[in-house]
Amino acid sequence: MARKNIAAGNWKMNTSVSEGVSIFNDISTNRIDNDALVIIAPPFTHLQSLIDQKKDNVEVAAQNCHFENSGAFTGEISPEMLKNMGIKYVILGHSERREYFQESDALLAQKVNSALDNGLHVIFCCGEPLEVRKADGQNNFVAAQLKNGLFHLSEKQLANITIAYEPIWAIGTGETATSQQAQDMHAYLRSYIAENYSQEAANNISILYGGSVKPDNAKELFGQPDVDGGLVGGASLKSDSFTDIIASF
Ligand code: 13P
Repeated sequence: MARKNIAAGNWKMNTSVSEGVSIFNDISTNRIDNDALVIIAPPFTHLQSLIDQKKDNVEVAAQNCHFENSGAFTGEISPEMLKNMGIKYVILGHSERREYFQESDALLAQKVNSALDNGLHVIFCCGEPLEVRKADGQNNFVAAQLKNGLFHLSEKQLANITIAYEPIWAIGTGETATSQQAQDMHAYLRSYIAENYSQEAANNISILYGGSVKPDNAKELFGQPDVDGGLVGGASLKSDSFTDIIASF
């Protein structure tokens, strides 16, 4: 996938199916007709309903998947199941998965492989905790997440990855990274990809910022040269605020 402006909404474990369908349809009806790719990642229970309603202007993503296609993994959903439903995108490596469900870099590398093998496009999350930021260790920390989770991929496979930089201290806290902090990290990640792959691969990858993106800060964040859009939590649960964010490109 070529580099694009992307507004992705991660609903996490929120909304009933009927609420979700209603928000999704409102976003689809009211979004501005710009060039942004808009993606909503609802809970698993909502995926079929959203796929059934969807028009071409809002895509649907899963928030996670397993690395096996089938088997004795109670409670898990496989990438093949997502593919068979017509899902094209999956979020992997969200900090909440890493922290609360002990998802390691090694596990994420397996999930990435399996998702790509099933033709899914992966939104791969990375981001440092507050203590790492305070010690100014964020670049090395996030670089290691990319190296361990992604850099075994070929350049061709990397074209099916979008990166979402989500500093943990900015998630759900109302404390957004400044646009300069976001730009600095995104530029660093792009240069790190250029070093390990090629300048073309670095230029072509979309890098999203996540962490308290709101209608009033989206324009400045998305205006940074290396920020290609956002992965939005809370503000994607209201169609008005999310459509305003989509209009910020
Ligand atoms: P908030 O926008 O609620 O801070 O969440 C960000 C996030 O975790 C998106 O994946």
